[in-house]
Amino acid sequence: MNYNKKTVKDIDVKGKKVLLRCDFNVPQDKSTGAITDDKRIRAALPTIQYLLDQGAAVIACSHLGKPVATFDSYVKKQAEKGKDPASITEEEWKKSLKKLSLAPVAVRLSELLGKEVIMAADVVGEDAKAKAAALQPGQIMLLENTRFEKGETKNNPELAKAMASMAEVYVSDAFGAVHRAHASTAGVADYLPAVSGFLIQKELEIIGGALANPKRPLVAILGGSKVSSKIGVINNLLEIADTIIIGGGMAYTFSAAQGGKVGDSLLEADWQDYANDMVKKAAEKGVKLLLPVDTVVANAFAADAESKVVKNGEIPDGWQGLDIGPETIKLYCDAVKDAGTVIWNGPMGVFEFPAFAKGTEAVAEALSQTSAITIIGGGDSAAAVQQLGYADKMTHISTGGGASLEFMEGKELPGVACLLDA
Ligand code: 3PG
Repeated sequence: MNYNKKTVKDIDVKGKKVLLRCDFNVPQDKSTGAITDDKRIRAALPTIQYLLDQGAAVIACSHLGKPVATFDSYVKKQAEKGKDPASITEEEWKKSLKKLSLAPVAVRLSELLGKEVIMAADVVGEDAKAKAAALQPGQIMLLENTRFEKGETKNNPELAKAMASMAEVYVSDAFGAVHRAHASTAGVADYLPAVSGFLIQKELEIIGGALANPKRPLVAILGGSKVSSKIGVINNLLEIADTIIIGGGMAYTFSAAQGGKVGDSLLEADWQDYANDMVKKAAEKGVKLLLPVDTVVANAFAADAESKVVKNGEIPDGWQGLDIGPETIKLYCDAVKDAGTVIWNGPMGVFEFPAFAKGTEAVAEALSQTSAITIIGGGDSAAAVQQLGYADKMTHISTGGGASLEFMEGKELPGVACLLDA
């Protein structure tokens, strides 16, 4: 796949209406709805500011959460969760949609830009169309949550056409959503000249560069709870990396596969053969595959659980591994010291509990001290690096969770493939 795409700099936007797809899927406080992390809104600012400075009229759009777009589907979904369909009201469904309105994002974006952000009441309805038609160069508006339209996730051409009809140029800066072939992330590009914003450009350059032509040695650190969710990444990185480091919950499936005792640790029994295949494949390809040599175990999955260090593969029954041990920390930190590039996806342990955050923290610290290009996949690893205070020491923290994972799996990203080649 070609990642060399035209950007906003390659197209004339002066006096034009620009449909700008952002990823404003931000975390919110469950009870108050307040935005708890505005990183994704900030990440879109350079492109927005550039477009406004160029005299474009910006029609921004995004999804937020996973709203159910029709009452019928809402009833079906609730019934699947065990609710009596007769008790579900339209009011309740509308309330669920209201919670996922982009209005709070418009307020935050307006604060960050220091200018009004006109909020539309719908996506392609009368209000959006009227506001888009009246929008002047240098002004910005935000459409309502694109997933309020049932055609969005189905990449419905009519919806894509309706969105495109409000603008003359399409700019995508929604890196977090480029793995989705939706109407607003891919479909609209069939109807408008489509280019990338600065955020997508940066993500493609840094992650794409590390995958295609890395400064070696390339060390990949893979953690997180499940082998099954990382298969694609391990497989693809076995073709590219010099060293692969395995940590987090998925390490116990590797350990069990090699005959180790894992006690009550996370285990995907069905994936043991696969884990062994990966070890074999690594040996065949001459890739160094590092597995934990010791582990911090706890007598419960709790922040204040009793804990001790045991050798890998010797976890007693009633105990579960929640972090890598001190010998493993040393081994892993040594392995990144002389790296040219490090790609990290997935924490080393349950970093949300301070007692089991040492492995993740040590790796973050080691990365902060190397001269390597350090790339942190989105999602949990990005959250860990931020929570532990190492965010500004990394070369790049991706704004995409699923998107960066699929990128590292070597998959085609529909939201990138649809953009004009440079
Ligand atoms: C994300 O948060 O990873 C992106 O915004 C994509 O969201 P989705 O998984 O709901 O498509």
